[in-house]
Amino acid sequence: MPRIPPHPERRPVLVTGASSGIGAAVAVGLAEAGYPVALGARRTAICEELAAKIRAGGGEAVALPLDVTSDESVSFFVSGAEQALGEIEVVVTCAGEVTPENSYQTSTPSFEVQLQLNLVGTQRFVSAVVPAMAARGRGDIVFVTSDVVRLPRPRMGAYVAAKNGLEGLARAMQMELEGTGVRASILRPGPTLSGMGSTWPVEVLQPVLDDWTRFGLARHDRFLKPRDVAAAVLAVVSMPRGAHITLLEIEPEAPLREGER
Ligand SMILES: NC(=O)c1ccc[n+]([C@@H]2O[C@H](COP(=O)([O-])OP(=O)(O)OC[C@H]3O[C@@H](n4cnc5c(N)ncnc54)[C@H](OP(=O)(O)O)[C@@H]3O)[C@@H](O)[C@H]2O)c1
Repeated sequence: MPRIPPHPERRPVLVTGASSGIGAAVAVGLAEAGYPVALGARRTAICEELAAKIRAGGGEAVALPLDVTSDESVSFFVSGAEQALGEIEVVVTCAGEVTPENSYQTSTPSFEVQLQLNLVGTQRFVSAVVPAMAARGRGDIVFVTSDVVRLPRPRMGAYVAAKNGLEGLARAMQMELEGTGVRASILRPGPTLSGMGSTWPVEVLQPVLDDWTRFGLARHDRFLKPRDVAAAVLAVVSMPRGAHITLLEIEPEAPLREGER
């Protein structure tokens, strides 16, 4: 049986949704850990600012425009990143969005838009990179999903459907890629303070939070920070070869109970 070689020293990373929240923190966190990073999102100016900060701190980073709903944009991003950083070793898919509405009141076009971004866009992106990884016999794909797969939340049915689809896709891909050296991993964060939901007016946000309480989904008031999720991503991709974290769920730790400090 051939021995599995260790990771190469240089491991360029593609991060989708790198202009905000979890994606931005992943790009910064991996760059700090020595990974060259390509930051992609539609708001290229924000990605460029982040990349400049990373470079100023001694890291290696490039920012390129990316819209995961467009074939042309994905292929421009992947080839530009490869030219700038070399062969891609790691992909972290963070691009995503949620629209707060009851699924039975969601128009079919709105439902489709959410599936196109969160599910189809991720498949489009990953399939632009995985064949070359499999040919090289190594690589890491991290699918950022959500704990809504384990605990579905109301008022976001399209998002719940898309994230379930994404985990199904990742599970199928894990089997397809078995023995190729490419590790596909599911990274499932719980509630995280990010751009997501930050612009919802209170009359939209409050019923969402009230429903979390009503359905027992708000066990406490703590949220993860994007950098916590970035640390989990680093744990997944830095796992030595020969081991494969197939699923990692990260939740905010509960506040300590009175009298237990
Ligand atoms: N926040 C949470 O509580 C939470 C929990 C579990 C999982 N997640 C997941 O974590 C991931 C990151 O979300 P976040 O919480 O960090 O939210 P966020 O701060 O709103 O970031 C979302 C990112 O997605 C990008 N994006 C949106 N549409 C895109 C497109 N068509 N092409 C490329 N990029 C696009 C946005 O960039 P542009 O607008 O510049 O394109 C932005 O960088 C998502 O997949 C989300 O489902 C979040």
